[in-house]
Amino acid sequence: MKVPHPIQYQGSKRALASTILRYLPDKFSGLVEPFAGTAAISIAIAIRNRSKSYWINDYNKPLAELLELVINSPVELADFYKKLWNQQHDDSLEHYYQVREDFNRTRDPRLFLYLLSRCVKGSVRYNSEGLFNQSPDKRRHGTRPETMRENILGVSYLLKGKAKITSLDYKQVLLEVKEDDVVYMDPPYQGVCGDRDSRYYSGIVFNEFVAALQDLNARNVRYAVSYDGRTGNKTFGVHLPESLDLTLIELEAGRSTQATLLNRDDITIESLYLSPRLAEEVYALPHFHKRQKTEQLVLMEPKTGYATQIPKKIS
Ligand SMILES: C[S@@+](CC[C@H](N)C(=O)[O-])C[C@H]1O[C@@H](n2cnc3c(N)ncnc32)[C@H](O)[C@@H]1O
Repeated sequence: MKVPHPIQYQGSKRALASTILRYLPDKFSGLVEPFAGTAAISIAIAIRNRSKSYWINDYNKPLAELLELVINSPVELADFYKKLWNQQHDDSLEHYYQVREDFNRTRDPRLFLYLLSRCVKGSVRYNSEGLFNQSPDKRRHGTRPETMRENILGVSYLLKGKAKITSLDYKQVLLEVKEDDVVYMDPPYQGVCGDRDSRYYSGIVFNEFVAALQDLNARNVRYAVSYDGRTGNKTFGVHLPESLDLTLIELEAGRSTQATLLNRDDITIESLYLSPRLAEEVYALPHFHKRQKTEQLVLMEPKTGYATQIPKKIS
């Protein structure tokens, strides 16, 4: 089965999912994604049937509501999308701006699906008042209704009856995580676009995030975090502190959305940090994954002095 993805979202972990999944256990009872975005990791885990249940959370309410519709009301959502998409042909750009205005007024998640599929590179942008202000892609008309329907039905097939969807602050989610769960976190990156990151609905406070990870360590919860990264020698974001005893895996992510935004050609390396219990369970050592050659692992000197374990197996 082709991995279905109805929602276009810049920053989606879709392309890196299969590499990230190598660092999660083979089977477990519950996956928790507190910063789900498009739920790319939940979808990738579900297609491999590796978890029994899924908790998909994103603070962006229309996005969480959209995921809820994709999973639980797929036919109605696909029908609505088809109708809306077909209305654009008289004047496609004017239609987009009208839908955007309607969305900012109503926050209807079905309109959000259309805007994400139709806007420039699926990249959400909000102004200081929290209004969606991204422009339409002038060269494309957005995902065709038949393709959208296939993707929506595909995600629903994988997750219906197994997923809980919420729109809470991540800290609240982490408080409710159980010891048997596996948590994958992909918070908004810091330090890329200046002080305020207009790409996401909310930012996170570094010290609060570190405190939440400390608490997960104390509760012996397995988690993985996509956090900072680098382009060439330039680091973006602040490294997570060594006191958390995390294992650092570096993933070559290609010419990044960040580099694109900054108009540069650098290859971006994204960091994936594994919690002590998770690293131990999957026998992980710090690694560097080259892009499109994920089978060929290049062992790297741990730059940051993160804890290493005796390697036995990478699954
Ligand atoms: C980098 S994106 C996640 C992308 C996701 N991994 C994917 O594959 O699509 C970060 C997400 O965190 C959400 N977010 C921002 N602040 C949050 C908070 N305080 N609690 C929960 N979610 C938050 C944003 O709305 C955004 O969708």
